[in-house]
Parts: sequence; structure tokens; C-alpha cells
Amino acid sequence: MNQDLKKEKSAREAFNLIEPELMKDSVIGIGTGTTTNFFIKELNKAKIQIKGVVCSSNASENLIDNSYDKFSLNEVHGIDFYIDGADEFNDRKELIKGGGGALTREKILAYSSNKFICIVDESKHVNLLGQFPLPVEVIELARSAVSRELMKMGGKPIYRHGFVTDNGNQIVDIHNLPIEVPYDLEAKINNIPGVVENGIFSCRKADTIICTTDNDISVIQ
Ligand code: A5P
Repeated sequence: MNQDLKKEKSAREAFNLIEPELMKDSVIGIGTGTTTNFFIKELNKAKIQIKGVVCSSNASENLIDNSYDKFSLNEVHGIDFYIDGADEFNDRKELIKGGGGALTREKILAYSSNKFICIVDESKHVNLLGQFPLPVEVIELARSAVSRELMKMGGKPIYRHGFVTDNGNQIVDIHNLPIEVPYDLEAKINNIPGVVENGIFSCRKADTIICTTDNDISVIQ
């Protein structure tokens, strides 16, 4: 089975899982990335009666069918279900996200959600987070200063040239960073002045991971 098919199966499973629980006033949070795009496809096809969606990126918002109302987070009571992919996940359901650069809004939506369902294929599973370079969103003028601090932590920061986030900021990808205690490192990086957010999702990790392998789909609670 190719990777896209696995992504599609995880996305469909997530849709099937939440559909019976959706009500007229439900709000779905929409992540960003190729796996989430498959979820958007399911949602668009189904045209269900819900209050609407809150999207983590302009790219995702553009893909949502016009039959759904699109809200900003400020306009809703919260998010009932947040559906998003990940670049890495471990057995504790901690994640690295932000390969697509939408990590800050993704983390805000995940925090505001009652249930965060992460949809992945088996290639995203790791024992120790950090093989995927950790994305850090930074304020432009602090980029070098933040990078120096990240080097002191043992990482190799690489500026994502030419990329501007939906928030108007820049991304530095940290290679070779040992992420032994994700919870601590998430907070430590966010304490560096100039950092907007980093891609470790440990303080608010996933509630459920849906992972498709060659043989089956597992729903990890
Ligand atoms: C976007 O910023 C990311 O957090 C994505 O959710 C993550 O990179 C997973 O993307 P794919 O579903 O495309 O693998």
C-alpha cells in the first residue's frame, strides 16, 4: 500500500469515528498537510450539518467546501474535534509538527479542542522524537539570536529560506536536537525571546492517534 493510501485511510477512519458524535452546533478544527487534506475531502463529500470549521492555515481554509461556515477561533465557543497530521509521533502520543509551517495555529487549535485526533501513517512513528527537524517559528529580527540559543541546546538550526508563515514570521528547522524529555524542551524553547512557537506537541499531545500500516488501521487511545 502506498503512503498516500495509508494517509487516506487514516483520514477516513477519523471521519467515521467522529461523524456519529457531530451535532448541529459542533465545531471541527482542521489541521494542515497532505493527510489532513484527505480528511477535508471526506468532510466536503459528506456535507454534514454542523456549526462550522476553524482552520489552522489559509491553505486548508481554501480547500473547505463553501457549504461549511468558516470561523476564526475568536468566533466560536471552542473546538469539539481537532483533526490533524504529524511529522512524528511516539508511544506517548507526543508529536512533532510544523513540517508545513502551520505549527503555531495548529497548536492553538489543538489546545482549544476537546478532542485532538492525529491521523498518520506508520512511517511517522518513532521511539524518540527528533529525527524529523524540529520547526520553530520565530520573529524575523530574533532569528539569529534564537538560532544561537538553539545551538547551545545541541541542535543545528537551519533557516527555512523564503518561507513566511500565515502569521508573517519565519521558520528555523532544528536538526539533530536530542528531544529526551519533550515536555521540558517544549517549554524551554518557548522561553527564548523571539520564539513564537515550536513544533513539539507534548504539553497538549494527541488524545487519539489513528495510524494505518500495510496490514491494518490502529486507533490508539
Ligand atoms: C503542518 O504544519 C504540519 O504540522 C503537518 O500536520 C505535518 O507536517 C504532517 O503533514 P503531512 O500530513 O503532509 O505528512
